Amino acid sequence: MTIGSTKATIDLKQVVLDQPPLIENGRTLVPFRFIGEALGAQIGWNPTNRTVSYILGDKNIVLTIGSATAMVNGVKTTLDVAAKILPTGRTVVPVRFISESIGAKVAWNATTRMVTVTMAATLDVGIVLPTKDEPRWLQDQTRFNTALKTAGYDAEILFSQGSSAIEKQNVEALITKGIKVLILCPQDATAAAAAADEARAAGIKVISYDRLILNTSAVDYYVTFDSISVGKAQAQYLVDKTTGTKNPLYLYAGAASDNNAFLFFEGAWDVLQPKIADGTFVIENSSEAVALQGKATLTRAEMAKIIGQITTNWDFTVAKNLAEANLTMATAGKKGNVFILAPNDGTARSIADAFAADKDVKSYVITGQDAEIPSVQYIIDGKQSMTVFKDVRTLVKDASAAAVDYLTGKTPEKTTTYNNGKIDVPAKPSAVISVDKSNVVAALITSGYYPASDFTGLP
Ligand code: BGC
Repeated sequence: MTIGSTKATIDLKQVVLDQPPLIENGRTLVPFRFIGEALGAQIGWNPTNRTVSYILGDKNIVLTIGSATAMVNGVKTTLDVAAKILPTGRTVVPVRFISESIGAKVAWNATTRMVTVTMAATLDVGIVLPTKDEPRWLQDQTRFNTALKTAGYDAEILFSQGSSAIEKQNVEALITKGIKVLILCPQDATAAAAAADEARAAGIKVISYDRLILNTSAVDYYVTFDSISVGKAQAQYLVDKTTGTKNPLYLYAGAASDNNAFLFFEGAWDVLQPKIADGTFVIENSSEAVALQGKATLTRAEMAKIIGQITTNWDFTVAKNLAEANLTMATAGKKGNVFILAPNDGTARSIADAFAADKDVKSYVITGQDAEIPSVQYIIDGKQSMTVFKDVRTLVKDASAAAVDYLTGKTPEKTTTYNNGKIDVPAKPSAVISVDKSNVVAALITSGYYPASDFTGLP
């Protein structure tokens, strides 16, 4: 808007004002309806009290004609210049006061005598994912990009690239942008507590996504797959492929900083341990696991001991190096037809490659999870035996629904709780599906998850 001109623009669109902006007492006054409509506020006029009002989101502003006192959300504020009715009969209001009270920014150009009002972008939801380097999290990014926008909410996704420090910076950047809901998949479950605490202190709802944030009460909700059943499905697949006894078993786990790594291992151990006890399997690559193989249920500390020895840290290179080191240590008699518990697809491909390259390995059965495109291709090609399909569409749908619930003052649905060391976090875990060559087309292609054109040689 320009002082003395009836020409104005809203988002590059020309409009004509019924009253040009004017300056009084060093303050710019503009038509009261125009500024309200331009900012998207609900406008009110009360002829009895001679008040004009604006409502936008949680902001409520009331000015009385001729009075230097205004109310912002029920709090009295003094104006430099009052709203007034001009001799032309037009009502004008102080543009800076209205705009800033509503959360917009005002710029004044003294040369052109132009006033520019910019509505500060409001970001409803911030999403922080662990890394772009694993196809798993790119699946989540793709599905989120559509889900929240379709629901009409503005969302931004940031990646932590394997660093808790970057993760914290990401969360802080989103807090500054005014998010109301944070969806956080922690890089390191315990380190993420500080970021969650900051978000909570800023009045933001915190949704722990896929991985649980540990040791803080600042987690409002947990959206997850049933991770125990992921481990069970992997182990059951191995068990179902065995014949006879003394089958060599190689165990690998995720990162010890990820609570899921414990849940996956716990589920797998539940199924594998009786089969180790009855002689079906022989553990070949973990003395800690051998030492504990008589125990049906392990404590977290016991699992930590085993995981410490067989961790891939969710890293392809660590996984490959560990598998190669294990194979170097093992005599030919510990190879032959082997069974490998690999925690996810990325590490499974690395471990499978290492085993495939060993001349003493005659055949291997190897697990995975995530249904990553390269692993689905490995399954089709017979290089990976199975994957646990976690339909990210479901997780994104649940997380988005929970975010929308919070944005609209509701509480998301819970079916269970997970203890994070501090509190029982309400949660809604989703089911998973075991996929191998026999059902890959039905589970992943016919279901519309991936187009057939992503793969070659489909069965
Ligand atoms: C997720 C898996 C993923 C792994 C490595 C886990 O917390 O549940 O889907 O493969 O992290 O990123």
